[in-house]
Amino acid sequence: MERRRIGVLTSGGDCPGLNAVLRGVVRAAQAVGWEVIGFKEGFEGLLPPGRYIMLDRHKTAGIMPLGGTIIGTTNKGHFVAKVGAGKKAVVAEEVIEQARKVLQGLRVECLVIIGGDGSLSTALQLQEAGIPTVGVPKTIDNDIEATAMTFGFDSAVACVTDALDRLHTTATSHRRVMVIEVMGRHAGWIALHGGLAGGADIILIPEIPFDFEKVAEAVRKREEDGCLSTMIVVAEGARPKDGQQTVQDKSVNGEYKLGGIGEVVAREVATRTGKETRTCVLGHLQRGGAPTTLDRILGTRFGVHAVEMIREGKFGYMVSYQNYQITSVPIADAVNHLRVVQPDGQMVQTARAVEISFGD
Ligand code: F6P
Repeated sequence: MERRRIGVLTSGGDCPGLNAVLRGVVRAAQAVGWEVIGFKEGFEGLLPPGRYIMLDRHKTAGIMPLGGTIIGTTNKGHFVAKVGAGKKAVVAEEVIEQARKVLQGLRVECLVIIGGDGSLSTALQLQEAGIPTVGVPKTIDNDIEATAMTFGFDSAVACVTDALDRLHTTATSHRRVMVIEVMGRHAGWIALHGGLAGGADIILIPEIPFDFEKVAEAVRKREEDGCLSTMIVVAEGARPKDGQQTVQDKSVNGEYKLGGIGEVVAREVATRTGKETRTCVLGHLQRGGAPTTLDRILGTRFGVHAVEMIREGKFGYMVSYQNYQITSVPIADAVNHLRVVQPDGQMVQTARAVEISFGD
């Protein structure tokens, strides 16, 4: 008798923990006698003739500590369903039909789609077109409202914390101001958590527009207090009160490529305080390397639960982490709902209590 076959793909920006999810899916599926096909480079692998590899416990052996994804990913191509914040594009009908034929030809019953908000929007469109899907949320920015946490976030925060520890000593030795630019397009979670863990003095996030003079004031105050350095963490999506986000370029899928706010802040601080200032952009370092223990466990739990949902026939749903348990929510309720930092929330209050300034 032919074995049941499921498909899996990773889509959007990569992050540590994707391989843990793949390994979890494969092991849990094999345990119930199913086969798993991994489609290459996101949804693009679904286009004729179909680009894929059969995944089994041997192919996924030893991948737990690896960053990235062994089946590749992309955040552009024929299936892009999101074109900027809050905007949605429709995946062309003929593209969905091509994918359906490839899946039917390979006897793939359903797809596990591991991706962020945009990829989950595509998953929803496939589901609505009659291709059964199960979603697994992924974003290092940790800004999907329907899950309390996504894998990759903890690893990114660990990277920021480590960078701050390293930069602290050089900044202090030179009595400098150090500006560290981190990821966080719409939400400042990485900056907030990384800044708190790494002992930052000023944190600038998209949710709390800042005032350059207030930032400079905080630097001067530290100087008066005899502090030898000031560490400023700035999320790439942060912006001054009367200004815009700092955009580098317009990317192919319509999302602006952010970057450069660190240098802008450094220049203003240097001019206003006369302090020697340096900038360090962490960029994609935050998305690479081995996942933390937490992300390996969360990724594995997500992968195993996705298979459980297929067993229950729970399609059109997404794995979600709530109150230490893995559960599921309709994908339709999850997409387009960003979880951003509450300016008066507990995390911000805690940060302010340890004398962190938000430049507001
Ligand atoms: O959404 C996650 C994220 O890391 C953002 O913080 C960042 O703006 C974006 O991805 C960068 O993506 P890429 O360089 O891969 O296009």
